[in-house]
Amino acid sequence: MKDIDIADLRRITELIKTKHGYDFTNYAMSSFKRRIVRILELYNISVDTLITKLVQPLFLEEFLNEITVNVTEMFRDPSFWRVLRDDIIPGILLNHQKIRIWHAGCSSGEEVFSMAVLLKEMDILHNAQIIATDLDTNILERARAGAFHLKNMDLNEKNYIRFQGTGSLRDYYKEVNGKAVMDKSLLLDVSFRKHDLVKGGIFNKFDLVLCRNVMIYFNQTLQNEVLKKFHESLFKYGYLAIGSKESLIWCDIANKFIVVNNEEKVYKKIKD
Ligand SMILES: C[S@@+](CC[C@H](N)C(=O)[O-])C[C@H]1O[C@@H](n2cnc3c(N)ncnc32)[C@H](O)[C@@H]1O
Repeated sequence: MKDIDIADLRRITELIKTKHGYDFTNYAMSSFKRRIVRILELYNISVDTLITKLVQPLFLEEFLNEITVNVTEMFRDPSFWRVLRDDIIPGILLNHQKIRIWHAGCSSGEEVFSMAVLLKEMDILHNAQIIATDLDTNILERARAGAFHLKNMDLNEKNYIRFQGTGSLRDYYKEVNGKAVMDKSLLLDVSFRKHDLVKGGIFNKFDLVLCRNVMIYFNQTLQNEVLKKFHESLFKYGYLAIGSKESLIWCDIANKFIVVNNEEKVYKKIKD
């Protein structure tokens, strides 16, 4: 197995930062290192060769694909989606006619389609405005296309059943050339955009921000910075949902949120 030391990791992150503008300095060291080692093994190259290759924009795309973990599912953690449908979204609708949602780190879009299906079944999809962002432009293309491998649909269907949707997930897609192609009407008010949580600014205000299974790859410093951006991006009394293995308790702005559902990691902004 190849190994790599901290000085090498620094050389790699410095190069990507100065040459391409992506800053991985504050990604959690152990998983970042593991993925770099994986790239070295996959291409069977040395750190020096990796550094030379990283200057090429085309290779950078491949590199970003390997570095960012894109694993996702529809209705991932079904109980979370039930809480959204039964508690959180009805709460938002008490005060707002339109619901504005940001999926930060949306990967290939399964989370966004889950939201659209949920809203459609609540008959409020037409009242929702959804912005879905990710760092990785290739993965955003896949999200826009909304065509998923049929083999992944088994798990998605199982999650949907546990979510207790009102129909069948099959109502929302057609099988075309071995892929599940999602109904495009689900995306009428969805905008997929490239946005880097490390360098990107605040671009709108939302009632609900979902950033699930993304900050787990960041160190504490970066988590604090990103959480400040989410806090600023939320209306007062807006909600923030993070991944089941993540927490807000230790962050600098914890006192500006209350825990709404500890199991499902849903928080509410209570102070500006
Ligand atoms: C594991 S996926 C999570 C997908 C989805 N939220 C879920 O929970 O199933 C993590 C996503 O975060 C994205 N990501 C990583 N760093 C990012 C950054 N700095 N800005 C925006 N997105 C980022 C990755 O490209 C990847 O698509």
